[in-house]
Amino acid sequence: MTPSDVKATLSFSDGSPQMDLPLYKGTIGPDVIDIRKLYAQTGKFTYDPGFLSTASCNSTITYIDGDKGELLYRGYPIEQLATNCDYLETCYLLLYGELPSPSQKEEFVNRVTNHTMVNEQMQFFLRGFRRDAHPMAVMTGLVGALSAFYHDSTDINNPEHREIAAIRLIAKMPTLVAMAYKYTIGQPYIYPKNDLSYAGNFMRMMFATPCEEYKPNDVLVRAMDRIFTLHADHEQNASTSTVRLCGSSGTNPFAAIAAGVACLWGPAHGGANEACLNMLNDIQQMGGVAKIGEFIKQVKDKNSNVKLMGFGHRVYKNYDPRAKLMRETCHEVLNELGLHDDPLFKLAMELEKIALEDEYFVARKLYPNVDFYSGIVQRAIGIPVPLFTAIFALARTVGWIAQLNEMIGDPEYKIGRPRQLFVGATQRNVTPIAER
Ligand code: CMC
Repeated sequence: MTPSDVKATLSFSDGSPQMDLPLYKGTIGPDVIDIRKLYAQTGKFTYDPGFLSTASCNSTITYIDGDKGELLYRGYPIEQLATNCDYLETCYLLLYGELPSPSQKEEFVNRVTNHTMVNEQMQFFLRGFRRDAHPMAVMTGLVGALSAFYHDSTDINNPEHREIAAIRLIAKMPTLVAMAYKYTIGQPYIYPKNDLSYAGNFMRMMFATPCEEYKPNDVLVRAMDRIFTLHADHEQNASTSTVRLCGSSGTNPFAAIAAGVACLWGPAHGGANEACLNMLNDIQQMGGVAKIGEFIKQVKDKNSNVKLMGFGHRVYKNYDPRAKLMRETCHEVLNELGLHDDPLFKLAMELEKIALEDEYFVARKLYPNVDFYSGIVQRAIGIPVPLFTAIFALARTVGWIAQLNEMIGDPEYKIGRPRQLFVGATQRNVTPIAER
C-alpha cells in the first residue's frame, strides 16, 4: 500500500481532540482512509453495515470499476480473458498472478486433471442426503466433508497444504456438482474422463450414463467454460468475504470454501440466477411479454417485495460487463441448438429493454447483471434450474482460494472481528423464574 501525502482529519463537535488519519493509494480505484488506530485513540468505532464504505483488505487479484462497468482479473479485462483464454488459464492467472506460458499451462492442466476423482467414500456420504435435497445444501456438505478425506491439505498455514488443497478443490468441484445432480435424479455417478477439457469433462459427468456416452458439443462446452470464467472471481463480494473471515480463524481450506458455498446460496448473491429463471418462468406463465408491464409495476411497488432478479448490483452502477458477454454466449447457444425463438429468451430481452428505459431503473442505475442471461444459457444446455448456483460455486472456487491464499500470505492479516454499536438493554438483574 502506498501512503498518500494527503491526510484525513477527524474532528468532533464536542471539542474532543481531532485525529489525523493516514490515506493509502491503490494502483487504481479510490484511496482508503486507515482507521486502524481510531478506537485506540478516540474510543470510537466506525459504523458501516453492509461494508458500503469499508475496504476489508488490500488485494492484487480483481478490480471492478462499477461506474465504468469494468472488471479486471490481475489487470486483464474480462472481455479479453473470456475471448482469448480458457477457464483453467484464468484459474492459473488468479492463483499465481500471471497468465501461464504454454508449458506452465500444460503442467497446471495435468495437475488439475490428475485430481478430478473424489475419494470413493464420498459416495456414501452423499447417500445420506434426501434425494430431493437442494444441490447447494448437498454442496455445502460435500465441500466441508473434503477436509475429512484429505488430511494432507488441511493446514492453512502450510503453503504446500494450501497449494494441494487449491488444486484438489478446482479439480473436484465439477465431479461433486455432477455427483450431486446424478444423485437427485437417481442415476449412477459418472467418473471423470481425463482426456476431456475441464468444461467438457463436467458436461459428460452431468449428461452421460453408463449405457449412453455423451459427446460434448464444442459450442456448448465453450459456453460452459465461459460461464466458469465469468464467475471465477469478483473481489470482496459476500461469499469471498465469508471465505476470508472464515479462513482468518485458521480453519482448513475446505471448511472455509464450504462457508463460501453456503453464503453464495442466497438469492441476493449466487442464488439470483436460479431466482431469475424462476421469475422469467412465472412471468411466462402469467402471460409472457404482454404481462411485463404488470410485473414491472409490482417491482416498483415498495410494498410488494418483488425484485427484478438479475438486475442491480452493489458495485456495478453500469451494465455488468459479464452480462454483455453472457448475452453474446446466449445467442450462440440458442442458435446452435435451434432455440432462437425460445420464449424465455425473448421475454428476457423484452424485459431488459423495458427496464433499461424505465425511470425507476435508470434513476437507481439498475442494469442487468451476469445472472440475467446465465440462467437461460444453462437451461438451454440442459442444466436443471436448482443446479445453477452450484455451477456458480464450482466456478467461484478458484477466486475464493486465490483470495484466501492472498489473505494468509498478507503480513497484516488478523482474525476478522467486526465491532458493533450496542443498542440493547443495559445491565439488569435476572428475576427468578417463579417471579417472572
Ligand atoms: N429490482 C428492483 N429494485 C431494485 C433491485 C432490483 N433487482 N435492486 C435494487 N433495487 C432498488 C432498491 O429497492 C433500492 O431502491 P430505493 O433506493 O428506492 O430504496 C435501490 O434500488 C438500491 O438498492 P439496494 O438494495 O440499496 O442495493 P444493494 O447494493 O444493497 O443491492 C443487490 C444489490 C444485488 C442485492 C440488489 O440489486 C438485488 O437484490 N438484485 C437482485 C438480485 C440479483 O440479481 N443478485 C445478483 C447479483 S450479481 C451476482 C453476484 O455477484 O452474486
